[in-house]
Amino acid sequence: MDTPSELNEVVLPQNVVGPLTRSAIFLVLCIRQDEDAYTRLRAFCADISGLIRAVEFRDAEAGLTCVAGFGSDAWDKLFGAPRPAELHPFREIRSGGRHAVSTPGDILFHIRAKRIDLCFELATQIMDSIGEVVSVADEVHGFRYFDDRDVLGFVDGTENPRGDMAREATIIAGEDPAFAGGSYVIVQKYLHDLKAWNALPVEVQERIIGRRKLSDVELSDADKPAYAHNVLNVIEENGRQLQILRDNMPFGRPGHGEFGTYFIGYSRTPRITETMLENMFVGRPPGNYDRLLDFSHPVTGSLFFVPTGTFLDNVTTDASNAAKSAEALPAERISSVPTTGPVAVDDTSLSIGSLRGETDE
Ligand code: HEM
Repeated sequence: MDTPSELNEVVLPQNVVGPLTRSAIFLVLCIRQDEDAYTRLRAFCADISGLIRAVEFRDAEAGLTCVAGFGSDAWDKLFGAPRPAELHPFREIRSGGRHAVSTPGDILFHIRAKRIDLCFELATQIMDSIGEVVSVADEVHGFRYFDDRDVLGFVDGTENPRGDMAREATIIAGEDPAFAGGSYVIVQKYLHDLKAWNALPVEVQERIIGRRKLSDVELSDADKPAYAHNVLNVIEENGRQLQILRDNMPFGRPGHGEFGTYFIGYSRTPRITETMLENMFVGRPPGNYDRLLDFSHPVTGSLFFVPTGTFLDNVTTDASNAAKSAEALPAERISSVPTTGPVAVDDTSLSIGSLRGETDE
């Protein structure tokens, strides 16, 4: 394997921090459990960037990007040690009839572009390459709905961090040096009971979300109930808000009565998103849960690690060497990760204590 330092190469993150696009495909795959399949997948890792470039160049204006993430078991089988410090299977949560399910998934491809045909083409090329050694756990084609609204009718994405703040929220730096430039991503596919939601008065919907429906203006603190979505999902520590980067997409099949939101949240530590989920499903304090969940339930839930593009380019088919590219990165190269500098995200920084799987209310 070529060592990046020999080539004076910098560590390039995958395209986690991208602009919101009109279209996206979310492809979650499970790898066939045999060595031949893992070898094929390793070979594919080094080919991904070339494949993306080939499709992207057909309309460079359309901004095609693709992020590949790997689940905890798949990481061990594909790349072995070292492994990202906080990579683990998605932790399910059950509370008061609400259930954040944990579902299978070895690889996530998050494909984004202004044009769905480019997303479709890349997904097709990916499946042409590895379709024989994977099964599809889930495939969702998302679209942007009117002015960036979800199918519930609210603008979704307003308070996302932008620019340097987005990089700071998502890209690992000194806290896990071997994986600097990487990121974590959690996905959940939510289905909505749209009839019941639309039967609510708009004022009640607005209190559940914490924003005005038409104008998207945030409710005043006095008008916002403690269970509002944007109260439970604001986590502060030492006066600073801990953020994730979301790129939720509506999807659905009106003919089948299916209306959904595909939740996707990137962060430099999965603990922030996990805390948000605990606040939503269990409640903060317990029992003060997110009323969105009276009208929405997730049917999938998975956690993936997103290695750098440089890591993927350097993967070889040899299992014993596969993850060595991470170890090989010298400190001075890691500092060139395009983030605005280290942020203290250590084991004590979130004060989360234990994340429970099951709680009483
Ligand atoms: C049913 C699925 C979901 C829907 C329809 C939804 C919708 C929304 C909407 C409309 C907003 C307000 C606009 C904005 O700032 O983006 C919002 C904010 C937010 N949501 Fe969600 N969301 C969903 C699930 C989740 C989940 C699962 C999480 C985290 C695990 C989450 C985290 C957040 C955060 C962090 C904010 C910004 C809060 C703030 O800073 O004001 N959402 N969401």
